[in-house]
Amino acid sequence: MSFVSFVLNDMDLSVRIGSLTLKNPIIAASGCFGYGVEYADVVELSSLGAIVSKGLFLREREGHPAPRIVETPAGMLNAIGLQGIGVHRFVEEKLPELRARGATVIVNVCGTTLDEYVEVSRILSDAEGVAALELNISCPNIKEGGIQFGCSLHGTSDVVSAVRKATKLPVIPKLTPNVTDVASFARAAEEAGADAVSLVNTFLAMVLDVETRRPRISNIVGGLSGPAIRPIAVRMVYECRQAVKIPILGMGGIASACDALEFIIAGATAVQIGTANFVDPFIWSKLLDGIEQYMERHGLARLADLVGSIDTSTREKQWVSS
Ligand SMILES: Cc1cc2nc3c(=O)[nH]c(=O)nc-3n(C[C@H](O)[C@H](O)[C@H](O)COP(=O)(O)O)c2cc1C
Repeated sequence: MSFVSFVLNDMDLSVRIGSLTLKNPIIAASGCFGYGVEYADVVELSSLGAIVSKGLFLREREGHPAPRIVETPAGMLNAIGLQGIGVHRFVEEKLPELRARGATVIVNVCGTTLDEYVEVSRILSDAEGVAALELNISCPNIKEGGIQFGCSLHGTSDVVSAVRKATKLPVIPKLTPNVTDVASFARAAEEAGADAVSLVNTFLAMVLDVETRRPRISNIVGGLSGPAIRPIAVRMVYECRQAVKIPILGMGGIASACDALEFIIAGATAVQIGTANFVDPFIWSKLLDGIEQYMERHGLARLADLVGSIDTSTREKQWVSS
């Protein structure tokens, strides 16, 4: 065994999200990795820190009519409208295979009402093989529920505390970036009993075809994701890290190990990858290799030590003196 492989094997990439320990910080983001099973022949599901399912309501949903996605500079706009198979079919049809493949499964929970969030969470808590619940209070593409809760401090608090009472699983509300002060929402979530927060969901945006003067997607507006949003998402993770003690699952445009490390250094305990998986479905091992190489180069034995290790001292001094 070479020295390098010994050092690499000796590295600890594990991270803790409440009571949950992930073997590494790399997570497939909701809506960009199906229900996980679709990728099982291409990606070793058990090699990922976790996968997050597509958002699930109590019942099946059709979502919006096509066109539902359009490419944008350094990103994409989507308004899928939370098409999904519903929680019962997920538990019966998808969860057994995910369990058999050794995947760590976080389920993205949706609701049009508070009761629906609670009911979906209860069903998932009784099912075998769910590691945590990510509460989608931030989807910009539906009319009822979702972002209406996530854009109000009371709504955020109400959903988190209601689900908190209904489950022992880690509860991870997913925050919207479509607010002025995202840190206050992270704080509201923490105070209501969240074990962690995920951020960010997509940014409300719009693309037009100037020839026809029509919006390029049927829902008129949609959610922007991909590298275009990354610097804003990093800033939001940094702001939330100052505001709360609970772990942050950071995302928004991560497409390389360097991007993932940026989020971790800004304060994310784990990172999620969405849009980049559409560009490169083999991205996962590249991300993990890149993180290990960085740790080796910087003499780091534990990835957890890198979380929130941002050094702002010289920047602040420059700011004051200029
Ligand atoms: C096609 C598509 C579908 C998505 N569906 C969901 C969803 O069901 N639930 C959710 O919380 N976020 C959903 N998202 C948001 C992503 O999980 C992620 O928060 C966002 O895209 C930012 O990360 P990225 O830039 O790496 O894609 C979706 C994003 C895309 C592009």
